[in-house]
Amino acid sequence: MADLPRLPAGFVLGTSTASYQIEGAWDADGKGPSVWDTFAAEPGRIGDGSDGRVACDHYHRWTEDVALLRELGAGGYRFSIAWPRVQPGGSGPVNAAGLDFYDRLVDALVEAGVAPMATLFHWDLPQTLQDAGGWPSRETAERFADYAAACVERLGDRVAQWVPVNEPNVVTLLGHGLGWHAPGLELGFDALPVAHHLNLAHGRALAALRAGGARAVGTASNHAPVRAVSESEADRGAAELFDALWNRLFGDPVLLGRYPDLLADALPVADGDLEAIAAPLDFYGLNYCNPQAVAAAPEGAAIPFELREVTGYPTTDFGWPVAPDGLREQIAILGERYPGLPPIVITENGCSYGTGPDADGVVDDQPRIDYLDAHLRAVAAAIDDGADVRGYYCWSLLDNFEWAEGYAQRFGLVHVDYDTLVRTPKRSFRWYADVVRAQAAPG
Ligand code: NOJ
Repeated sequence: MADLPRLPAGFVLGTSTASYQIEGAWDADGKGPSVWDTFAAEPGRIGDGSDGRVACDHYHRWTEDVALLRELGAGGYRFSIAWPRVQPGGSGPVNAAGLDFYDRLVDALVEAGVAPMATLFHWDLPQTLQDAGGWPSRETAERFADYAAACVERLGDRVAQWVPVNEPNVVTLLGHGLGWHAPGLELGFDALPVAHHLNLAHGRALAALRAGGARAVGTASNHAPVRAVSESEADRGAAELFDALWNRLFGDPVLLGRYPDLLADALPVADGDLEAIAAPLDFYGLNYCNPQAVAAAPEGAAIPFELREVTGYPTTDFGWPVAPDGLREQIAILGERYPGLPPIVITENGCSYGTGPDADGVVDDQPRIDYLDAHLRAVAAAIDDGADVRGYYCWSLLDNFEWAEGYAQRFGLVHVDYDTLVRTPKRSFRWYADVVRAQAAPG
């Protein structure tokens, strides 16, 4: 067999997706609108003018997608549940048809030998809850607990692992600080309460999932090693502030039960919140993209730091640096910062390359193979360093709706033709299947 990355026995290889990015069927079977339905319908919000109304039509083609997972052979699949399918108005009675969809999906996954990992919130907040205040309101975190309870009651006997909130830092900063993502608010630093309410939602859901008998609960937290562009005091201070905002604002309360000193005063913490947020986890899910370089902003700027691209790396078609060393570094940073860290699972890592089918229908995406190869080797190296990493979920199974970029960026192991919705496994899919086989082979 070719020289493939080897992970330890028992390590789970998987793929990852999210409801709004693949499902389509935006108003089927009683589903309510989400903030992403609203946001994408506003002119100018999405780069290619598209939306997720059809996406990959996974809602209707899920059996085909489970067949792809079976063919891939990877032991895990991470998907998300659309809150507005389960509770169209964000609270109150459950829409049985919405949960039925996930019930069938989970059954089929188990039958295919794939362990389901369910994310409860991958950004598609019911619009009704947004209208009632959204994440700037503490009440949204309380509503989230009811929704989590309904999901675990129905699916908890078969879902292997639960993730309450996907990437709370992206929701806070891109959705509420800068307005690049739904709900499109530009609150700047006034978005900080959103971070606390998302952390609280994690804590409340964690308690509800435990009470409902969940088998395992973790996170899917996006972290990036932050590198100051120079050793100057100003650049190092700017990097420290960005690190607090991007990494520690979410990692510290969950894993240490406190907020970083730099930000603590801006957060609406009530008695008991931090204890709920820091309740023990079965795994810490890490979503990794690339390191982030940071410089001090000029005197008087509204935001005191500037984000720069790390230099010295090749880039993907999205322009993102390919930096597998940053993954090993990030895993080490988590271990250093957080004594008692639970086992790590890489809940997302992947890359965008636009390669489509050639004249013979072959999608030859060698750069994705190289990317995944290097990142899996980085995980293996981190394990050799002594880190306890238990799984790796490639983003993504399918090409899909990449948020503000629309369909312009393709992250899938499987190509999707958005006119015909035909799925074509790329060469990277075959390669990943080989990695799965190699990992399962003795020796
Ligand atoms: C992480 C997000 O969770 C996912 O939704 C997104 O598509 C990928 N990063 C790529 O940007």
